[in-house]
Amino acid sequence: MLELKNAGKKFDSRWLFKNLNFQTQTGDFISILGPSGCGKSTLLRILAELDTLSEGSLTQPANTNPGFVFQESCLLPWLTVSENVGIGISSKTISLSEKQEQVQSILKTVKLKESGGLFPHQLSGGMKMRVSIARALINNKSVLFMDEPFAALDDFIRFELQEELLDYWKQHKMTVFFVTHSVNESVFLSQKLWLFPQGNQQEFKELDLQKKDFHPQQYRQSPEYFRLVTDISDRLRGRA
Ligand SMILES: Nc1ncnc2c1ncn2[C@@H]1O[C@H](COP(=O)(O)OP(=O)(O)O)[C@@H](O)[C@H]1O
Ligand SMILES: [Mg+2]
Repeated sequence: MLELKNAGKKFDSRWLFKNLNFQTQTGDFISILGPSGCGKSTLLRILAELDTLSEGSLTQPANTNPGFVFQESCLLPWLTVSENVGIGISSKTISLSEKQEQVQSILKTVKLKESGGLFPHQLSGGMKMRVSIARALINNKSVLFMDEPFAALDDFIRFELQEELLDYWKQHKMTVFFVTHSVNESVFLSQKLWLFPQGNQQEFKELDLQKKDFHPQQYRQSPEYFRLVTDISDRLRGRA
């Protein structure tokens, strides 16, 4: 279990957030939702232990194996797709053939089985993001940190990648922390939302969306999905 207690972060003397209290169980899919500039990326970096809290505490499970995906695909232009993905394997004891097998298998998962030999400049935006996701997922990651990974993609590709990510999560149940400023995206993807305070609201809120067994492709058309999107948009505007 991960727990944030009275967590606060300041830069110089300005508090970005304060009094944040959240808990999550292993295998949760959590969206961190709030407007630009509220501190979502900073919180994600803190959860990933790339930055530290200014006050309060963060307790997390030991020995996690984290993967990262950012808005930019962050590929190395001089390496092939396969080589870029191989970077995601943290173990140094793995043999070359084992590594190649893992790369091939994850490229298949992200639908790039035939593209391992291509270089980043030969890929579309959606394909670059698929490579970035493959690099993050390879080697059975236990936690995935995603910072607005689909924000720069068009709707067709975005929906496709969201659905594929959900299918993968349903199979593997790694913990996912997903930063977004899109209500639709957060409702579609996650089990829980962490809402940053809006306007004159002072409190961080955690919402459990209580999704039971849902089918990603059908969920987007369901009354339940529309109800949640409306409800949460209203909350964010202080109307509920
Ligand atoms: N390293 C830093 N030094 C000083 N201020 C920072 C730093 N990182 C972030 N900030 C401040 O925190 C604000 C929120 O940052 P960020 O976490 O990126 O927000 P979000 O991801 O929600 O858009 C920024 O607008 C900036 O003022
Ligand atoms: Mg950000």
